[in-house]
Amino acid sequence: MATHGRNLNDYVTRFWTIAAPLYDHPALQQWVYRPAQDEVIDELRAHGARRIADIACGTGILAARIAEELEPDEIYGVDMSDGMLRQAKARSPQVDWRKGPAEHLPFDDETLDAVVSTSAFHFFDQPKAMSDFYRVLRPGGLAAVATISPPQLPLLSRLTNSPSSAAHNPSPQEMRTLFADAGFILTDQRRVDRPLWTRGVWDLITIGTKP
Ligand SMILES: C[S@@+](CC[C@H](N)C(=O)[O-])C[C@H]1O[C@@H](n2cnc3c(N)ncnc32)[C@H](O)[C@@H]1O
Repeated sequence: MATHGRNLNDYVTRFWTIAAPLYDHPALQQWVYRPAQDEVIDELRAHGARRIADIACGTGILAARIAEELEPDEIYGVDMSDGMLRQAKARSPQVDWRKGPAEHLPFDDETLDAVVSTSAFHFFDQPKAMSDFYRVLRPGGLAAVATISPPQLPLLSRLTNSPSSAAHNPSPQEMRTLFADAGFILTDQRRVDRPLWTRGVWDLITIGTKP
């Protein structure tokens, strides 16, 4: 996996602060980001979660949809980037927006019913983030992570996981191991259902519960 720490988090924060104004383009949102967010909302609805955090919430589209569509008791959006959070805050006053890294979440132990994350997990220190998701969830709580996970073809893996890349795209097996090592019971893993012409996004959703 990629080397993570303060330097990587600084780099990722700077990049997303610059990219924030481009991020809400409707076509980008509709075809790239929305299919995974739809599946996360379905999972939250089925679980009946009332205290929910969206980790690496970006400009806050998913967290704002959760607030509107599920009307939970508490909904938090967490991100490290000031630029992304600025746009998120302008989007919805119903969400409690918080600045912080996925690896050290700004919540006490066992305070949430669900932790979700879409299109960002490849940037995280993945074992640390999974362990912090586990820490903040109450027993029975849900973790749903949608992340880019290209097929394990040698050339593709070299391109998408080059040593110079800041991100690491985990394989389905790596995701299952990360969930299990953090203490979760794996309940589902599947490819995100998306239109044929966007299947090259190769996103995967993995779902687990805290025993
Ligand atoms: C591609 S955007 C995804 C935003 C949103 N989750 C979505 O689906 O539209 C990636 C986001 O991850 C955030 N991010 C990356 N690494 C992070 C970390 N370790 N902790 C918190 N946020 C992080 C970036 O600041 C950026 O806002």
